[in-house]
Amino acid sequence: MDINELKTKFKKIFGRDGAAVFFAPGRANLIGEHTDYNGGYVFPCALTFGTYLIASKRHDSKVNFYSVNFENEGVISADLNDIKKENRWADYPKGVLETFKQAGHIINTGFDALYFGDVPNGAGLSSSASIEVVTAVMINDFYNFGCSLIELAKIGQKAENNFVGMNCGIMDQFASAMGKKDNAILLDCNTLEYSYCPIALNGISILIANTNYNHKLTGSQYNTRRSQCEEALKLVQSRFKVNYLCQLKPSDLPKAEDLVKDETLIKRMRHAVTENARTLEAVALLKKGDIEGFGKLMDASHASLKNDYEVTGPALDAMAQALQGCDGVLGARMMGGGFGGCCIALVKNEFLEEVQQKAGREYEAALKIKPAFYIAQIGAGARKL
Ligand code: GLA
Repeated sequence: MDINELKTKFKKIFGRDGAAVFFAPGRANLIGEHTDYNGGYVFPCALTFGTYLIASKRHDSKVNFYSVNFENEGVISADLNDIKKENRWADYPKGVLETFKQAGHIINTGFDALYFGDVPNGAGLSSSASIEVVTAVMINDFYNFGCSLIELAKIGQKAENNFVGMNCGIMDQFASAMGKKDNAILLDCNTLEYSYCPIALNGISILIANTNYNHKLTGSQYNTRRSQCEEALKLVQSRFKVNYLCQLKPSDLPKAEDLVKDETLIKRMRHAVTENARTLEAVALLKKGDIEGFGKLMDASHASLKNDYEVTGPALDAMAQALQGCDGVLGARMMGGGFGGCCIALVKNEFLEEVQQKAGREYEAALKIKPAFYIAQIGAGARKL
């Protein structure tokens, strides 16, 4: 759906024109998985697809949300002073609204808002973060709050943590808010210091393979992983002066493992610490032009997410294995929270077609599900259009 069609839709649903259009992208993550809430590094980039939002302010205290992606849900309405969670898609924008209010921002009048996302839902490409960030950008603009994009990313994360109940880290909202065309972001999730890294992959493309496998327990498993990391951290803090697991170096692991003792917690900690080191090493290799080396670390990242963090599952494992076995693939790994969603791979352009055919066939034979493939284009971050 293009913007003109969305404007027509807005008029049909709300009986007047939309005043402004906003966009926030979904994200891919090249490497650095489950490190963000462990105070480590991530290396995501914004995609060219994401969530569009058309909105107009109202004169009363009503807020109305409509999504072209969930048309059967109709308009979801609430009063500004009585925002409740309903376990529906509108919890994301409602959470953002509530988070602004809790931060002391005064919102006296409501708005009508129509959303359209071209990020596949539930694919691990951060459709939810793009809804949060685009809502935050709209509210910031309409009510002149003057928040920076990083503040808006934090509001999105808080909304998801406290209102939706998913204890995600900052990576997705940060990438959506701060993305830059043709660049990935090396983000230190402990300090939020970041730098852009141009991604000029000569003759190589970023292929995203959607397993089309949705795992219902992703949220609860995610929160469990996060609390296991917190438990491991408490145990190592008896000897190490660290605030986050990723402040440990791989060489600290033998001592740290003695302190943690529990086999499961040791595995979770080992993933966080080694993945953080892999991320820094991978970015250093990329800067030297060693894409092959970068790809090998992507494979190692998947292995660690499978064996130590145990967040891959049959679909992501089958897809990563199929991709890794193809000629022309430099590296492949699962991406995002895990259990379902997408893998990401670096593929030599001349093999792109063949890889999609071969990996697609093998995956479908194993899972009996048809996958989907996208060639990722790295786009800019959230903005008013
Ligand atoms: C999800 C979360 C992120 C991050 C990834 C795993 O996408 O929203 O904060 O933790 O999982 O790296």
